[in-house]
Amino acid sequence: MDVLTGIGDMQVRAEQDRLAGKNIGVVPTMGALHEGHMNLVRAARSACDVVTVTIFVNPKQFGPGEDFNSYPRVLERDLSACEAEGVDIVFAPEAGEMYPEGFSTKVAVAGLTAVLEGAARPGHFDGVTTVVAKLFAITKPHRAYFGQKDAQQVAVIKRMVRDMNFDLEIVVCPIIREPDGLAMSSRNVYLSSDERREALALFRALKKAEELVASGTRKSADILEGMKQTLTDTEIRKRDYIAIVNPATMEPVETLEPDQPVLVAVAARVGGTRLIDNTIVTLAE
Ligand code: PAF
Repeated sequence: MDVLTGIGDMQVRAEQDRLAGKNIGVVPTMGALHEGHMNLVRAARSACDVVTVTIFVNPKQFGPGEDFNSYPRVLERDLSACEAEGVDIVFAPEAGEMYPEGFSTKVAVAGLTAVLEGAARPGHFDGVTTVVAKLFAITKPHRAYFGQKDAQQVAVIKRMVRDMNFDLEIVVCPIIREPDGLAMSSRNVYLSSDERREALALFRALKKAEELVASGTRKSADILEGMKQTLTDTEIRKRDYIAIVNPATMEPVETLEPDQPVLVAVAARVGGTRLIDNTIVTLAE
């Protein structure tokens, strides 16, 4: 496995692989790799000749007062995990390499970035699309792998790829959960054992939504009300949003229609940690 830190070296290597006719799969990450990431790596490994994992804690997607400084950084452990899954290349640049003096470009998707995570974290998605566009230009993927856990990020990146004609395929892999249902996240390490228990409220509310839709509930207002009933008063106060939206546009959906999947998304603060989770549901015919 090669570990590259320079943009030029990475570009040369990617170009050589392309010229050799190899199919490149890229898994962009901020490190602190967990099973959710490894699932993306395995999906890339099974479909691509060359698998590149990028590890970069991107300062541009953290707002003031967010956890940029405390975000877990465990490069040696991440490299071992990548090696064990047969990753070919890890690209792990320093911030100065990605954003040198004078860097002044921003890639921004309008509209669907203004709501939900975008409303709670102003500027977050501009940071994500700016770094992901750079990572695509540097690692030259045929396919790039993202997790459904960050459902709005997926929608925003797909829109950027479509609007800017990036010549690659976005592959979305399912949310990976702990045995009790908690969605895997690099931020779960911040949770105390009490908070870990409290965090299950997100999954409980999503399960309720799935049950209600399976039993034919069509009105989003009824589904949202049912979800709120699964939460204690404290959990309700700590929640940031519960929403039922179109998974591609993030626009609210009032009534579910058969065969039209909707995204049920939740975000809540548990202790000092902000957690997100979601499920895609479809009303049966
Ligand atoms: O999902 C993440 O880990 C990050 O937002 C990403 C896509 C690697 C960009 O920094």
